[in-house]
Amino acid sequence: MTQKIIILLGPPGSGKGTQAVRISKNLGIPHISTGDLFRQHLKNNTDLGKKVRSYMDSGKLVPDTLVLDMLFDRVSKSDCRSGYLLDGFPRTLAQAEALEKHLNKSSTITAINLNVNDDTLVKRISGRLTCKACGHVHNTFFSPPSKTNKCDKCQGDLFHRDDDEASIVEERLRVYHQQTAPLIKFYKDKSVLTDINGEDPADTVFNNISKVLKKRG
Ligand code: AP5
Repeated sequence: MTQKIIILLGPPGSGKGTQAVRISKNLGIPHISTGDLFRQHLKNNTDLGKKVRSYMDSGKLVPDTLVLDMLFDRVSKSDCRSGYLLDGFPRTLAQAEALEKHLNKSSTITAINLNVNDDTLVKRISGRLTCKACGHVHNTFFSPPSKTNKCDKCQGDLFHRDDDEASIVEERLRVYHQQTAPLIKFYKDKSVLTDINGEDPADTVFNNISKVLKKRG
């Protein structure tokens, strides 16, 4: 059986999480966000959470070894057997190479790169509001909740992520351009990457990604 792996690449705020939720639901494969996994560890104050807090709080990348152990543990679960969707991984060439080594012969990779300019990213991130209860993401500029600070889906409380503060966003974007953007060439060279205009409305972005995934089979 072929194991289909979808990788969503793109800078912070490009819409990886927004699209990952939709794709995962549509294809019935697990959505694995390394950022969400780390935030869960922070919330539960685990040993890993204690180790990664300072990196996340300052907008730096968590060291590769900590990321790889956690990620490979997650993708070894039975729900990933036929495929999974990666959101926020890989983020360095070393992570991409480690993933290649980890995969077996029946695995295929489809990489989608969401292109969004930095000004839009800053606006999207500064307006992001996440639901504490169900994780649904709103945006004060693009998809405001009907009731102030209440989730439209479950009425849970909405919050701003700690790392969405302006100076940390600046660092996250710097780190993205320096350490993660080279992955675009890495996957282009393997002929598995498609660029998608992430500036389009979320529905259009989803339709365009779906077309690519359908074509790849
Ligand atoms: P992570 O959680 O992965 O954050 P990120 O990559 O910075 O991405 P974001 O979650 O900020 O944005 P997104 O692209 O998912 O956009 P979203 O859909 O929410 O990582 C956080 C930290 O964890 C890192 O800084 C690092 O420290 C650590 N980390 C994680 N993985 C790591 C790894 N592999 N290696 C090392 N360290 C790692 O959308 C943003 C907003 O825009 C929302 O409000 C949304 O509603 C809105 N929006 C989305 N799409 C559209 C659209 N088309 N039009 C209008 N608005 C839109």
